[in-house]
Parts: sequence; structure tokens; C-alpha cells
Amino acid sequence: MRLPILLLAVATAAAASDLDWWKTALVYQIYPRSFKDSNGDGTGDLNGITEKLPYLQETGIDAIWMSPIYRSPNYDSGYDITDYRSIQEEYGTMEDFDRLLNVSRGLGMRVVLDFVPNHTGNESEWFSKSTTRTSPYTDYYVWADGLNATDENGTLYEKPPSNWVSTFRGSAWQYHQVRGQYYLHQFVIGQPDLNYRSDVVQEEMKNVLRFWLDKGVSGFRVDAINRLYEADPRNFSGLYPDEPLSGAEGAVPDDYEYLQHIYTENLFETYDVVYDWRDVLDEYITSQGEYKIMMTEAYADLQLMIRYYGTKTRNGSIPFNFSFLGDINKDSTAWEIKTVIDKWMTYMPSGNVANWVNGNHDQSRMANRQGVDRVDAMNMLALILPGVAITYQGEEIGMTDGYVSWNDTQDPQACNTNDPVNYYKKSRDPNRTPYHWDGSANAGFSNTTGATWLPVASNYQTVNLAAQMATQKSHYHFYKDVAAQRKTPALQEGDLDTRALSESLLVVTRLLPGEAGMLGVVNLAAEAQTIDLTSLKILPSDLEVVASGVNCALEKNATLTKSSIPVSAHCALLFRSGIVGGGNAAGAHYLSLPLLVLLVVATYSITACFS
Ligand code: GLC
Repeated sequence: MRLPILLLAVATAAAASDLDWWKTALVYQIYPRSFKDSNGDGTGDLNGITEKLPYLQETGIDAIWMSPIYRSPNYDSGYDITDYRSIQEEYGTMEDFDRLLNVSRGLGMRVVLDFVPNHTGNESEWFSKSTTRTSPYTDYYVWADGLNATDENGTLYEKPPSNWVSTFRGSAWQYHQVRGQYYLHQFVIGQPDLNYRSDVVQEEMKNVLRFWLDKGVSGFRVDAINRLYEADPRNFSGLYPDEPLSGAEGAVPDDYEYLQHIYTENLFETYDVVYDWRDVLDEYITSQGEYKIMMTEAYADLQLMIRYYGTKTRNGSIPFNFSFLGDINKDSTAWEIKTVIDKWMTYMPSGNVANWVNGNHDQSRMANRQGVDRVDAMNMLALILPGVAITYQGEEIGMTDGYVSWNDTQDPQACNTNDPVNYYKKSRDPNRTPYHWDGSANAGFSNTTGATWLPVASNYQTVNLAAQMATQKSHYHFYKDVAAQRKTPALQEGDLDTRALSESLLVVTRLLPGEAGMLGVVNLAAEAQTIDLTSLKILPSDLEVVASGVNCALEKNATLTKSSIPVSAHCALLFRSGIVGGGNAAGAHYLSLPLLVLLVVATYSITACFS
């Protein structure tokens, strides 16, 4: 009798972990071009990623999310997709992808793909057939006629359908000779916007999701979600309405910031599409027994963001929380950081899963934004707060932005400035330079004798993984030590409490009754401070250091009490406490008696009211 019960218990446990894995996943973003080049052509590839999967597993990563790996001419580094169902040649083959997936699975890690639904590449078959109005592709994209206009000399000319501007500068409309109409591109000219008012497009994109889900991927990061819809011309006498001017200082008509994007961003129709995709992903709970994660990318107001979570009747996605990217920087105080954390937790509809993003391929690296001194602090915060933590490749070793000259620049956002002096202000290349594996040529990223696709950052000999693995104290060791604690009950489920003890001291606790608690302490100041946490009543007094940042004098395994904790300048420490509520069971009963009396009296009086 016992064996079947045991087997049932094991099976149930496995199923539960396949259904709940995403709620506390540590997700690692891989930018395939820059992670690891296995064939010496100067560009990263799938086999390079597969080779490094054991490293990621050893580090404590639960899932990798790869930026687009699909066929693309790379007008926007792969976010312009020619064929959603094939692999970009320079990254490898579908067999390479299948192997990556299998190796990853074997290591107990999941694979999440980038889903780019707003636009395809203009070299795709869909687009080409749409230009010739070939069914069913005729209305796959947002096409419109130009408008008649007269210039100051009274000469007639045709202008684009509206004043809309592309994120990457200039008109968002491009005339197409073959079709004789303009198409919309919210990003580069090579990224025509799909038309989500077409049911055929809706179905097509669901099938793209199914194609990869059938292969066994564990979910998607969804690109530029809040650009999916534009105002419906049927509500504007058949025209696309102009957007009002924003009045942004210094913005010129070609700048995205020049307009208020009321007709091209955050349209409410978008949410229903996300909920529909959630339904598609949920089909796989039955067929594959796995919950598929969906993380949506939108830079928008918090109240618009949280709607992606879903409604009372429909489930949605995890909207990326970009507050660490945009709302704090190297000068932020502990008060401000606490406020930013609390804000997400406050607005997030209860019962949902929070997330913390410390970097991505579109933003300057964390070490540049927050300062090298705060690398450990920010990594620790993302990893000990409730929910999903997202690490962009290289943040675990505190990589900084590289220098990319105008001649080496690849990013269309920088190229489109046509400004060899100021291009760097727009460029995302510095945060996309190759990963620093070691101090050898090309930082161990590639053994090419030619150029790597972007130059390696100059500090690779001092900031690299091999060096950090070899020293006792490093960003890497700290990151790994913190990651190792993510499976503890306290970090999985513990209640969150954030305290700013002063302008420079931030304290985060995760406490769960009956379990060891976790306590993160950050000193942002340039001076050492000793803190007294006796005011945190529920936190047990006995503490042990489980992770010690590069600037901390207190070492791992040191034990101390909460009344006196010495914290070095710019130091981040993670402690494990004694059992929460431990050794005080009698006290708990003692406390519960008056509570019980109160409850009985309250119940009686409510009942009495109705009698
Ligand atoms: C997202 C991507 C970015 C890309 C853009 C257009 O914001 O993260 O890299 O350029 O969408 O696809």
C-alpha cells in the first residue's frame, strides 16, 4: 500500500512544481548575438548558448529567455522577423534549437522565447504577399492611402496618412510602390505593423505560439505589447487621426517624444489579445502538464501596466516591472528605493506574481545606471523580493557598458540620428557588447581572428566571469549565494516587509511562520554603520550571514544578533534568521486567547443585530 501512496505523492509534487515554477522563477535573459560564439564567426549562436547552459544551472537560473532567434535581416537585431518558424542561419539550425531545449530540460531549466507580435520584418513572405494584395495576406498589415496636401507655393503633393512618428525617428508611415499605399511601422522601416483588427492575423499569431509550445518551450516574453493597436479609422471618418503635440522640451517633429501617443499606444483592445494568448498557453496545462509563463513588455503608466495581469474573469500575463530601470538611479536614497518596491506591491492586484527587472538589451547596464557600488545591492533586491527575478546577461558579474564608435554602431535607434557626435545618447549597442567569459582574446566570447559583431568592452580583463569565479569574493559569488536561497520557504512564500532605517539603510525581510526567515540589508552610504533591528519584532534575534557582497567585512557563516549588525560601506548582506515564531509556542497560545474572545464577542454582536 505504501509504495503507491509514495508514488502518488511524488507525482503530485512534480506536477505542482511544473504548475508553480514560474511564480518564483529566476529568469536569465540571453542576448544570443552576444552570449557565446561557438563557430568563430564573431556572432553568438545557439550552440554557444547550449555550451554554457551548465554554467547557468550551476548559478541557480530556473529559465532562460532568449531574445529573438528567428530568421531576420537584422534591421533591428532580430526584432524584424522574416519567418516566425525558422531559426536565423547565423545562430544555427532547428536541430541546434531542439538540442538546446533538450539539454536545458536535462539540466532542469526551462526555455522562454521572445514573441514579437506587433510587427514582422518587411522581407517576410506575409508582407510581400500583402504588398500584392494576395489573399489572405491583403489586410495583414496597417495600410492607408496618403493625404492630399498643398505646400506654401500652392503645389499639390501627397503626405503620409497621419503625423505619427516612429520610435526610431521620422514618419511612422512608409510608402510602398507596389501596393501604392503607405504602411505603418512604429519601429524601423523594415518592421511593418501587423493589423490586429484582422481575425486572420489574430489566428495566425496564436498558431505561431502553438508552434513553439508544441516543441516544449515554457513560455514567452512578449515584445512591445502596448503598440499592438492603433486608433480605428472607422471612428475618425475613415482617417488615422493626428496625435497632439507633447510640448516636450527640445523635441523636434522627427522625435518620438514630439507627440503624445494617444492613438498608437496602450489601446484597450490590447488587453483582450493578451488574455486570449493566455488561453492558448493554458491549453498546455492539460496537454503538457506545465504552466507557461508570459511576460509582457510595455513602458507605460503603472495603472495601465497592471491591467495585463488580467481581470476577475480572465487571466493575463506578468507585466514587466521596469521601476528599477526608470525610477531609481545611483543617487536614489533608501527611502526612494523602498517607495519604488512598495509601489509595485501596492498596485499589483492581490494574488498576482510580482517581478523585478534589473536590466535588458534596451537599457544602459545596471552598473552604469545604479553605480558599480550598488551592483550587489540591486542583484540581491531583485532576487529576494517576492515573485519573478529577471537578470540580463552579465549583470551577475557587474558588466558595464562598452564603448561603440559611430563606425561600429549597429543599433538603428542610434544610426537614425545621423549624428556621429550625439548618436551614443540613443544607442543601445553599449549594453549589447559581448559577454565577458574570461580575460583571453575577445573575452572568451569568440575565437574569431576578425571583428566580433560589436567590440568587446575594454574592461574585460578585470571584469570577467573566470576571474570572479577564481576570487573568494566577487559579484558572481554573491549572486550565486543569494540565488541559492531562492528555494527556501521564506523566499518562496514569506511575507514581505521593507524598511528604510535612514536615507542610506534599506532592510528587506521575508518571514514565514515556522521557517527560518531571510533578511537583506543594504548600506548605500560611503561609511560603515552599525544597525539595530530590535524594532523588527517578528524577526528572530539570531542571524547568520548567507551571502556577503564584495564590499562587506562580515563574512559568510558569521553569526550575530539583530541588535547589533555592522554593515560596511556600500555593502549588501543576506542573513538567515532563526525559526520565525520558534520557541514561543506557549506565547502564541497566550496571545490567541484574547483574540479568540474578541472574535466570539464580535460574532455574537453581528448575530445579535439580525435577531
Ligand atoms: C522592444 C525590444 C527592442 C526592439 C523593439 C521593436 O522594445 O525590446 O529591442 O527594438 O521592441 O521590436
